[in-house]
Amino acid sequence: MSAQKSIKLSDYTEYPYLIPSIYLDFDIGDEYVVVQSSMIIKPKQKVSSKLILQGNQIKLLSISINGKELKLEEYSISDESLIIDTPPVSEFQLKIRSQIDPFSNTSLEGLYLSSGMLTTQCEAEGFRSICYHPDRPDILSRYTVRIEADRELYPVLLSNGNEKNSGNLKNNQRRHEIIWEDPFPKPCYLFALVAGKLNSVSDIYFTNTGRSIDIKIYVEPGDEKYTKHAVISLKKAMKWDEDNYGLEYDLDEYKIVAVRHFNMGAMENKGLNIFNSKLVLADSKTATDDELERIESVIAHEYFHNWTGNRITCRDWFQLSLKEGLTVFRDQSFTSDLHSAGLKRIEDVSFLRNFQFAEDKSPTSHAVKPKEYIDIDNFYTTTIYEKGAELIRMLQLLLGKEKFFKGINLYIKTFDGSAATTEDFINSLIKGAYLEEINCPFDLTKFLNWYYKAGTPKVYISQSWDSKNSILNVSFEQKIDCDTTNKNIEMVIPILYSCYSRKKGSIPIAEDNLFVLDKNKMSLQIKTPPGEKEAPVLSLFRGFSSPVLWESDLTIDDYLYLFLNDNDYFSRWDSGQYLMREIIRTRLFNKANQSLEDRFISAIKQSINSLEINDPFFLATLLTIPGFAELESLLNKVDPINIYRESLKFQILIGNEILQQLRILAKNLFVKVGHEWPMGKGERKLLGIAWSYLTLAGDKNVQKTCVESISHYSMTISRTALSALKPLDNVNTEKASNLFYNLWKDNPVVLDSWFAYEASRPNKQGIDGIEKLLSHSKFDWKAPNSIRAVLGGFSKNIELFHSLDGEGYLFMAEKLIQVDKINPITASRMVKIFSKWKTYVEKNKEGMYKSILKLNQANISSNTREVVELILK
Ligand code: ARG
Ligand code: ZN
Repeated sequence: MSAQKSIKLSDYTEYPYLIPSIYLDFDIGDEYVVVQSSMIIKPKQKVSSKLILQGNQIKLLSISINGKELKLEEYSISDESLIIDTPPVSEFQLKIRSQIDPFSNTSLEGLYLSSGMLTTQCEAEGFRSICYHPDRPDILSRYTVRIEADRELYPVLLSNGNEKNSGNLKNNQRRHEIIWEDPFPKPCYLFALVAGKLNSVSDIYFTNTGRSIDIKIYVEPGDEKYTKHAVISLKKAMKWDEDNYGLEYDLDEYKIVAVRHFNMGAMENKGLNIFNSKLVLADSKTATDDELERIESVIAHEYFHNWTGNRITCRDWFQLSLKEGLTVFRDQSFTSDLHSAGLKRIEDVSFLRNFQFAEDKSPTSHAVKPKEYIDIDNFYTTTIYEKGAELIRMLQLLLGKEKFFKGINLYIKTFDGSAATTEDFINSLIKGAYLEEINCPFDLTKFLNWYYKAGTPKVYISQSWDSKNSILNVSFEQKIDCDTTNKNIEMVIPILYSCYSRKKGSIPIAEDNLFVLDKNKMSLQIKTPPGEKEAPVLSLFRGFSSPVLWESDLTIDDYLYLFLNDNDYFSRWDSGQYLMREIIRTRLFNKANQSLEDRFISAIKQSINSLEINDPFFLATLLTIPGFAELESLLNKVDPINIYRESLKFQILIGNEILQQLRILAKNLFVKVGHEWPMGKGERKLLGIAWSYLTLAGDKNVQKTCVESISHYSMTISRTALSALKPLDNVNTEKASNLFYNLWKDNPVVLDSWFAYEASRPNKQGIDGIEKLLSHSKFDWKAPNSIRAVLGGFSKNIELFHSLDGEGYLFMAEKLIQVDKINPITASRMVKIFSKWKTYVEKNKEGMYKSILKLNQANISSNTREVVELILK
């Protein structure tokens, strides 16, 4: 409960030593693993300075310098470090023998056991649980790794780089050994080791220059059949990076291992990616379209890290977004090139608004480049990742694509093989973009505010129409909402805009233009063709050109116009979202706006007619109501149960109003859904939307079709049917859920989606039902996927989780305390479920507060404590 020690960016100092090479030897036994490290250490200066190595739960066996055993008084050892006070002043060899116990390590950090195989996760600071080492990303070393283990228990032994040699031990035929060598210097967080009974599926990729790369996907025996999608995705990513960034893969082999127990999505270890198995094992029978697309993008993400992350890494963890923001931007561009740019943009914006904007409004809000942290694991956030990607996207927009790529090239050339900062990135980006002419078209200092300031900026817009001269005057004002310290910050906010004549349909009357708002107040004049009598309709932030909130004086008529006519996918969708938010907002205050609702529904009918054949995916997107977090953000005092009920009622209304059209739609679509992803995904998505509205509107036939579709050969259809039945909580829901369970009870990846479904659906069993799931024979406390499915699912079970007696919150707190004992990283991420407590109405606020106190009083890990204390502040 004491104040914890925080790490500050301003305290950064260079490490006084270089470690050009490391030899690691792993001797895997039955109860522990003996790790021997031999490091070449070069002092940077001729004066002696302390050598500080980090270590966590390591038993030291012996330590020597240049072959001479150290005496007890020559080093000191604590729970977290090993310090040698006066090491030699010239290059020396430090050898350390130590012992670790991966078999009882449930944190899924360092070396640990997952379904009988040993595996590692070192980012951010897991390497210190493997051996004594400085464990910071600015120390780059060449690694050679020898692994020795029982041949039967661990037939496959992997590490980074290329295989040097392997074979049985001469003196013990039951054991074998292998040596791996990675020629590229890397920080220790990219180290990886895997040992176990694994089967692999191989393929070959030929680079544009004609080199051949061996691809190998390692899985538990029996899962080989689910690897095709991953292989295809990887090859697409390799090709895309060559074609677009001119970046070729640098080793001869690329390995991916699927692991059931994993804290995050995946990890970009050099040449040996380790993946959460749910992000590898998939085909259209076991994964939905959305999941297939996500897998494709995560495979690409980790692959892209080979350059943006591995070849060029981060100087310290404050620079995390240097690699993550840029790499997310790259994977988003990849998906957008492969599929539809417009639809991908909508998906990304929707995610950003529901998660990153919500984070910005919460007590855990932080800058893309934070100034301090207690536990770096708590900073793998949507702000670092997705907002970070938005910043790169704005840079691309401001510089133009061609210059942007010139800048990226210079950045890569300059920093290849080193550890950089976000400032290094921006400076070399601008330098590369403009080469000699130092002509940056925007204020760089103000742009950097995007990195340094937390919070979502807000832009206020008002217009006036000069009919005599056919000029639309638009004034803008920017404010940064969440930052209380500094009210007058100016950001560089790129605004793409266009406008439409009310009479002329969807052809813009002014060209798509970029306006750069970089002062608190600015105005813009848009000249429209002479003769325009009426004020045009303004379309702003097209393509969501900057990650801000805005408020304008556009009228309902304007939004309806844009909803039907705008030729920018994002803006058209966004206008519909605005209208739906408005409708739900007024309903929440018990004064439904009848005329708005009528006009919106007739606009929906029109959209169905114009889009159902040509663009079913987009139509489905238009018909999707805003996310729950977005709805919550509409209110100062959030009443979650009320929001849930009102948005459900609104959907029932839509369902009833367009019943006939939806029935025809669903019938037509059902015969068109059989194609393999990505084909047919629009039809499947739209069918799902139609089914949801129809079941809500009480259509019994559709309910029956949904139950029958649980066994459909497309997982998308099966899960779509499940979702459509979810809010009903009737016999059909029950039947469908049981059918699904019986089909998939032996596939843990698919079964997690069932756990999530059961936990999140309205259900008469209440909290007992959640408890039953947690003690279900298929539930695995050690698998974060299972925990997130049930507890994460439960947090979305609005009426149960937010029940007014506060029992839901207390139950969650108890379970998170339990999770924290097993796995602090997973617990501290999940605790953020409580981060919005102050925004809720009194009853809920009180209940949540009690539960957070309960967590605070418990004996929790420092990871979780950091988040709990922030939330309480
Ligand atoms: N670098 C990984 C990625 O691709 C994330 C790993 C983070 N893991 C952690 N324990 N913090 O985004
Ligand atoms: Zn990443």
